[in-house]
Amino acid sequence: MTAKENITMTRLSFIKPAKEKIELLNQKLLPHKMEYVTCRTASDVAKAIKNMVVRGAPAIGITAAYGIYLAACEAHKKNKKPTVEYLKKQKQLLDATRPTAVNLSWATQEMLNTATAFWATEAAKAKDAAAALVAKLYEKAGQIHEDDAERCLKMAQNAVRHLLAGYPKEKYNILTHCNTGSLATGGIGTALGVIRLLQEKGKLNMVYATETRPYLQGARITAWELQREKIPVTLTVDAQAGFLMQKKMVDAVFVGADRVAANGDVANKVGTFTLAVLARAHRIPFFVVAPRSTFDTTLESGDKIVVEERDASEVLEIAGRPIAPKVPVVNFSFDITPHNYITAIFSEEETLE
Ligand code: MRU
Repeated sequence: MTAKENITMTRLSFIKPAKEKIELLNQKLLPHKMEYVTCRTASDVAKAIKNMVVRGAPAIGITAAYGIYLAACEAHKKNKKPTVEYLKKQKQLLDATRPTAVNLSWATQEMLNTATAFWATEAAKAKDAAAALVAKLYEKAGQIHEDDAERCLKMAQNAVRHLLAGYPKEKYNILTHCNTGSLATGGIGTALGVIRLLQEKGKLNMVYATETRPYLQGARITAWELQREKIPVTLTVDAQAGFLMQKKMVDAVFVGADRVAANGDVANKVGTFTLAVLARAHRIPFFVVAPRSTFDTTLESGDKIVVEERDASEVLEIAGRPIAPKVPVVNFSFDITPHNYITAIFSEEETLE
């Protein structure tokens, strides 16, 4: 088995697409239960994204693409034409669920472009045009999914090449934040893809996974995902990251992104900015790994990015159990890391330094 096949095959997917439905692994229940949520309509998909049954920027993009497919199925079943106007409304519904991750609106736009192009062809005049569009949209969503897997591999290869050449070491201790693996993307992951490839090459010593309060993506998902694949992982509370760096336990930080502005400022899971400042203070390279679908060149800089705020209950409770008095809560789901704190951004096409 080649390295590519090996790291690709060990991954677990967040989605099982089928005709007229998708099944999403309920990431809210991990690591204790593996249960799937079935979505048959675009509004089922919107609800699953909003409630974080599925999360991670590329994964919600892929899921929303299937949401547009399901919207077309719904119209077709009711003998209605899935027009561009109709699909645009469904896109708005899906895009509004999580405003920071640009992969979401990017993927739904790709689906809309497919529908627009279809209605302009001769095939649109056929009696069964709606069925033909439904099939086309299913194919397109599958393609977005597959492309993301390919992108993950290329990003990992770029990043690993750069790390080994620029920061040579026998083996690396990598700190990562949130969850950026195969449950957050269509492939091996963004930052976690790099970690998988380092492991494959025998260059990984330890992954320090931050818990990632309040939703605990690091503790519940990253630690579980790495343990399943026998990749060495140590869990740390978010607040300990600075001390680990001070004790020289971290050689590099790798994170993903939810939106990259034109000047290279990065929106990613809240806590990322803190890690970047700490890495700078300790002269540790701080790397971002993100596909082109996460780049938003329409926004000049990070201060233009809409940062999602989530419910206070995520902070006041853990797994439904209250842990604090009912005081006001501020719960930004992401923060913005200014580009001057970032050593390099790796995409599938290039390295921005
Ligand atoms: O709130 P989440 O879990 O969707 O946030 C996920 C992240 O912030 C990831 O780091 C990001 O999506 C990029 S990598 C998949």
